[in-house]
Amino acid sequence: MAYDDLRDWISALERAGELKRVRAEVDPILEITEITDRVSKSADGGPALLFENVKGYRGWHVLINQFGSARRMRMALGVDSLDEIATRIHQFLDVKSPDGLLEKIKMLPMLAEMGKFFPKTVASGQCKEVIRRDDFDLLQMPVLQCWPKDAGRFITLPCVITRDPKTGKRNVGMYRMQVYDARTAGMHWQRQKVAAEHYRDAMRSAIPHVGRPPSAAAVDLMARTGGGAIEAEGERPQGKMEVAVAIGTEPALAFAAVIPAPPDVEEFMIAGFLRQKPVELVKCETVDLEVPATAEIVLEGYVNLDELRTEGPFGDHTGFYSLEDLYPVFHVTCVTHRKNPIYATTIVGKPPMEDAWMGKAIERIFLPLMRVTLPEIVDVNLPVEAVFHNLMIVSIRKSYPGHARKVMNGIWAMGQAMFTKCIVVVDEDCDVQNVRDVVLRVANHIDPERDIQFTLGPVDSLDHSSRLPNFGSKMGIDATRKWPTEGFTRPWPDEIRMDEATKRRVDAMWKKLGID
Ligand SMILES: Cc1cc2nc3c(=O)[nH]c(=O)nc-3n(C[C@H](O)[C@H](O)[C@H](O)COP(=O)(O)O)c2cc1C
Repeated sequence: MAYDDLRDWISALERAGELKRVRAEVDPILEITEITDRVSKSADGGPALLFENVKGYRGWHVLINQFGSARRMRMALGVDSLDEIATRIHQFLDVKSPDGLLEKIKMLPMLAEMGKFFPKTVASGQCKEVIRRDDFDLLQMPVLQCWPKDAGRFITLPCVITRDPKTGKRNVGMYRMQVYDARTAGMHWQRQKVAAEHYRDAMRSAIPHVGRPPSAAAVDLMARTGGGAIEAEGERPQGKMEVAVAIGTEPALAFAAVIPAPPDVEEFMIAGFLRQKPVELVKCETVDLEVPATAEIVLEGYVNLDELRTEGPFGDHTGFYSLEDLYPVFHVTCVTHRKNPIYATTIVGKPPMEDAWMGKAIERIFLPLMRVTLPEIVDVNLPVEAVFHNLMIVSIRKSYPGHARKVMNGIWAMGQAMFTKCIVVVDEDCDVQNVRDVVLRVANHIDPERDIQFTLGPVDSLDHSSRLPNFGSKMGIDATRKWPTEGFTRPWPDEIRMDEATKRRVDAMWKKLGID
């Protein structure tokens, strides 16, 4: 089921009893957060909320918590179970070369389905109903201040669109934006994210090779923006990189913007795959980028290659404020929007919140993709309480000595899973979704000095405890049964389990026992 746009999605939520309209006046400064936080913490994540009377923003509606339950997440992706998506991915990955005409014919439906993935550029779309080249102010939108110690007001659900200067491929990433004033905002792409690499690539090509060590200013700038290009010799990079931001898209694209996809896969295609219908795009007015035709609001603009500004602090999904840091500045050149636009947003904070459900969906959808590299993985659990990147519990079909450590290293080498601070590996007969069982195994099965492995590497920018920003240690716990070939020669005890015959006898007599 593909939703045409945000409004179509809102109608579907309302029909399903998944949306509450709030007509009382509420303030976008802190109040919407407090209300949404209480709703998010209620059973099953509470309903989506449409605030229709936002203080100081007559005519504006604010949508929040649209992804905030297991059911809404499934509705957003048009499935009864997230495993359906995993199965579809698996089918595509499982394709073998067709043998003969019949097998080729059998593949036609799959090829036809693939045709739906590619985005379509159309002449115009509703996002152009109003075009503002001069008379705009970012704070004409009801941008939230989420938490008391936030540095200001943050756009929290933007689909940020950039183009790879090397390949021309587009990326859509969700990176928060701190509104500085009417026409500028922070661009919080963390340095390991795809748009940050586009930015560095733009810098690399903007630094002329002058045959001498780079100037201190160039090194400083490069280092603070990710450092990868320090070897590029030259002066401070000149120029800019174009960026477009879509706010209030149909749900598959907003979700695709969060998915940790390989850098070369366009999220427009992922959204097409998820909704089984192409995403329609229109060209921007002032930059050479395309945006979803039905988006509620589009911000067009650029970031200068030599300009950084303090961003944050911001009450983050870790449950703590992420510290201030330097990030590029987005300059808006044009705003286009639908008539009576709906501002889509979210809040993050102590889990569980809306993003917890998005993260759980990613966990399910990524399982088949993880198995491409690590086929021994049986199941994965990223507990919401550990804020995803801090803890991954993984069960494996262990086949050779040291297998658990191979899996840990494979996960740390896999895209954004590199951020996983702690990986716990258990045997396949442990249900990783049952955290009690996991704790029992880990506590019983490990000899800590032997089974805990530390490594160093990149860590999430939001980690406030690492020795350096973005760089620190990670831990793997091998809680699998240890084998003689791993140097463990003592007998390994059996797990306590009642035999089936006794269980059946007790089942039969249970009522007579008068216990409950
Ligand atoms: C609500 C929300 C806000 C997010 N904010 C940021 C952010 O400010 N900066 C960032 O680098 N990632 C942020 N993320 C995570 C990225 O969206 C995610 O890592 C995504 O895969 C990045 O896309 P990319 O792989 O195309 O860079 C956020 C995710 C969610 C759900």
